[in-house]
Amino acid sequence: MGKFFVGVILTLIILILGFLGAAVLGFIPTYANVAPPHWEHHLANAAVDASMERHAPHINNPLPPSDQNYEDAMKLYTMNCALCHGTLDRKPAQIGNSFYPPAPDLVADPPDDPEWHTFYTIRTGVRYTGMPAWEKVLSEQDIWKLTSFLSHMDKLPPAVQDYWKTNFGVAPPAGEDEKN
Ligand code: HEC
Repeated sequence: MGKFFVGVILTLIILILGFLGAAVLGFIPTYANVAPPHWEHHLANAAVDASMERHAPHINNPLPPSDQNYEDAMKLYTMNCALCHGTLDRKPAQIGNSFYPPAPDLVADPPDDPEWHTFYTIRTGVRYTGMPAWEKVLSEQDIWKLTSFLSHMDKLPPAVQDYWKTNFGVAPPAGEDEKN
């Protein structure tokens, strides 16, 4: 039994030294101009979800949904997020695909996570990716406004959909659903 544990520990030490050696000898790539392989994408996303489940407080959005809050969120989104996540006039983000991993297009494909999850992602960012932590830049209230906007993007109230059309020249995702 003792020999078995010594074997396990030696194997772990060799694996760790192997990894460090590969890093120091330059075998680990630094370039961000490729898409992550599928296995890495799935593993990393599962790790992010599990970590959020463990660390993020499961809190409810304290803000009442209101047209004004959604409109404020559109301005906040345009100023801070559209560059990486796609614009409200439905153009792909200028630099969204230049990250490793890429920044998802949040207008074409809004998050379907619970609001506490999206709030935590925006407030604390995502380590080892291009997603910044916004807590030092935006107020908690503004982060909640963005959270409700992203979570309700395909079911915004009619007045907010009109505001979107007037200001960005195209219908929001919900507008398209109505036509179908
Ligand atoms: C500098 C680029 C950049 C900016 C600016 C940025 N993000 Fe991100 N964001 C990313 C990247 C890259 C990811 C992907 C992280 C990952 O794969 O886990 C991401 C992920 C996210 C996610 C998780 C999406 C999902 O479905 O997994 C949300 C939500 C999000 N960002 C919201 C925002 C909001 C809101 C803003 C503006 C306040 C913003 N981001 C600004 C780069 C950015």
